[in-house]
Amino acid sequence: MGYKAKFRVYRGDGEQGGLENYEVDVNEGEVVLDIIPRLQATQTPDLAVRWNCKAGKCGSCSAEVNGKPRLLCMTRMSTFDENETITVTPLRAFPVIRDLVTNVSFNYAKARQIPAFAPPTDIKAGDYRMQQIDVERSQEFRKCIECFLCQDTCHVVRDHEENKESFAGPRFFIRAAELDMHPLDARTDRKSFAKAERVCATSPSAAPTCVPSTSRSPTTRSSL
Ligand code: FES
Repeated sequence: MGYKAKFRVYRGDGEQGGLENYEVDVNEGEVVLDIIPRLQATQTPDLAVRWNCKAGKCGSCSAEVNGKPRLLCMTRMSTFDENETITVTPLRAFPVIRDLVTNVSFNYAKARQIPAFAPPTDIKAGDYRMQQIDVERSQEFRKCIECFLCQDTCHVVRDHEENKESFAGPRFFIRAAELDMHPLDARTDRKSFAKAERVCATSPSAAPTCVPSTSRSPTTRSSL
């Protein structure tokens, strides 16, 4: 059964703006990312919102719903009461460009600092061998969809303007950790990794992804 939901959506840019009220049709089984484009199509054609896959895979629809960091495409309307007013605002940890779209570009600037995989020079391409445990460990780091909700949740970033641009974004940190634990990465200069580890030590919210280098498999490289 359809109904009309009450929404409050942030309209404005980083300088000025505020919450505006809307009533939008909702159908059974929909998610918030069904409603926002409907609002755009029927009432506010200039509403800025970023999304892509609508499947929880691309990480681009991140926003805050009732003050909590959420993927709009994974937030079911059935989790709200029909009479509830649902507030949708941009991620607070990032500068607002317009409406629900924030500027997350410094994460990509950090990503460009990740060094490339440096294979060992004494083994021919095609002769590299890794144990399955090392393959799985690397794949774990590839599961990040870069929605940046972890940064939005982390008080070290969210509440401290001075940390925002220098924080080693998730892509940087995760890829740095992946390379650091890669049994075939032959790099000896690990300055950038040491920097990532310092962030790990000072940011409690990053702790789940902080794996000490001593947990690296000792077997793969030495068994070649
Ligand atoms: Fe891709 Fe929501 S649109 S994760």
